[in-house]
Amino acid sequence: MSIPQETLDQIQERVDIVEVISVHLPLKRAGRNFRASCPFHHEKTPSFMVSPEKQIFHCFGCGEGGDVFRFLMKMERIEFLDAVRSLAEKVGIPLPKRGDASTERASESVRLYEANALAQSYYRECLLGKEGEEARRYFSNRGLEAKTIEVFQLGYAPSSPNAFLTRASSKGFSEQVLLRAGLILKGEDGRLRDRFRHRLMFPIGNVKGRVLGFGGRILDQGEPKYLNSPETEIYSKGRELYGLSLSGKWIREKEMAIVVEGYMDLITLFQAGVQPVVSTLGTSFTREQARLLKRHTHDVVVVFDPDQAGEAASLRGLDLLLEEDLSVRVVTLPGVDPDDFVRKKGSAACWKEIDGAKPLIPYRLDRLASKISLKTPEGKAKACQEILPSIAKIGNAVLRSEYIRELGERLSLKQEDLLSELKKVKEPSWGKEKEIPGKNIQTPPPPAEVMLLQLLLVDEKWIPFVWERLETDELSDGRTQKILSTLYERSKKGEKTGVARLARELREIMGGGFFSEFIGDSLDLLDKEKALTDCVLKIKATQKIQRLDQLEDEIRQAERSKEEGRLKALMEEFLAVKRGVVLTQKTKERT
Ligand code: UTP
Ligand code: MN
Repeated sequence: MSIPQETLDQIQERVDIVEVISVHLPLKRAGRNFRASCPFHHEKTPSFMVSPEKQIFHCFGCGEGGDVFRFLMKMERIEFLDAVRSLAEKVGIPLPKRGDASTERASESVRLYEANALAQSYYRECLLGKEGEEARRYFSNRGLEAKTIEVFQLGYAPSSPNAFLTRASSKGFSEQVLLRAGLILKGEDGRLRDRFRHRLMFPIGNVKGRVLGFGGRILDQGEPKYLNSPETEIYSKGRELYGLSLSGKWIREKEMAIVVEGYMDLITLFQAGVQPVVSTLGTSFTREQARLLKRHTHDVVVVFDPDQAGEAASLRGLDLLLEEDLSVRVVTLPGVDPDDFVRKKGSAACWKEIDGAKPLIPYRLDRLASKISLKTPEGKAKACQEILPSIAKIGNAVLRSEYIRELGERLSLKQEDLLSELKKVKEPSWGKEKEIPGKNIQTPPPPAEVMLLQLLLVDEKWIPFVWERLETDELSDGRTQKILSTLYERSKKGEKTGVARLARELREIMGGGFFSEFIGDSLDLLDKEKALTDCVLKIKATQKIQRLDQLEDEIRQAERSKEEGRLKALMEEFLAVKRGVVLTQKTKERT
């Protein structure tokens, strides 16, 4: 099936690429564009740009780029037509139907979304209606404001056995679809009835805010306390994080995510102003959830309920987050769950606890120390056995060394011995060489270098400005170095020709004109000084980062060869470079 160009245009007019992409990535404003770390290749400095004006994205690191459809195709690994369909649906533009199997499947899952959407509005209606009185009282007793109930679209499923079934049937939903959506079920007597009866309803949405399923809480005592939607074609518990569609923007803004366990915990925290929060709904983290979080932030604070706080198993479950290179801190609120805590003590106290959260490894050490003595040989062995496998999962060599050092101190063991134990731990992911995709393809130079040159080529009068601030050998790429030094020389000699050739050379390095179109006119000419300064600073910062990478490698080697003295010196230099002090003397001594 082909979709008429007008329809595609219509869709593009109504969706905002920034909005679509920010569902997936933490975008930061950078002048007139937005910037993020590229989701399509591994990088440490963000070179993925989105232009709201042109409604396109482009990564200067890997060269991926295009319009909003292209982004969705790549990001969600779907076909063009599915990307079009999903956006069309989002903005309410009807698409021509087609008869083949894959459309039918797609429209079947569309039916499940629709059934859930109907259920949500039905449960809301019931909450607000006569039958919802008890539920409204319940929510209000638990301190939920009307606005919160609205924002989270909370509802109430009435007690009659098939009230929803009746409503949905009258709206043309087949029993089959409702069964597949998990909204009704077949009782032992073989009769169909509503899954949720006389329960408070918490709709579970995906990042786009579309309802996928529900959690239903009992109003009084009873089992189960929460009844949840089963796994369906559109809902899988381990793939979603409750609250993320609302808290995503806060998580990106605060650059941290708070993880709690319950529906009510999430809602009360959010209401109290602790918004960058998601909930795992009482289960342990899955890799998919970790990755979902990682699209928004790298800093995670896990808030444990006091009853199972620090249980070794649930703490060990967090290793998954370490493997995904997230920084994990842990906190237990004194005595109560987050919901109670924030209602009794307020949000300031809550933030204070969160800010005081301890990194996972030290937290686990503390827990162990409170249970067993770390002074006996048995205690030490136990601690190693508990902690080392987790340390081995940390990708960052510096952090790993820090924790080894800390463990060594706490257990009064030699780092050397710990390092050799660490090596024995099964499958250390950090020992493996990282595979560089497209290694043989010539990689484009860093974007800041290209952008700098481009700006200079467009407007040569800025060359002296840059010349005063940047040496050619501060560029990391031989090709851009060459162009910059040619520019410097020409400017010194006052030559005026040859710019076109250099510009062409640069375009060739970049492999196509897309880049220049993108930057060329989306930069405000008035911003030139700032743009150039940014480029220069960025180039200098990159140099620093490269040095840090290099040091990381050396630290890794020193770890392996167990050279403690060298390791210590390297760590010191790492921290110094990180703080911006370059210990040139030391560097020179060693090389
Ligand atoms: P909790 O028992 O801590 O409940 O379970 P809660 O969130 O504090 O709920 P309130 O405050 O009593 O209303 C934590 C989470 O575990 C899941 C739910 O997602 C719940 O929010 N859970 C718990 C279930 O799915 N089913 C259950 O029967 C119990
Ligand atoms: Mn609770």
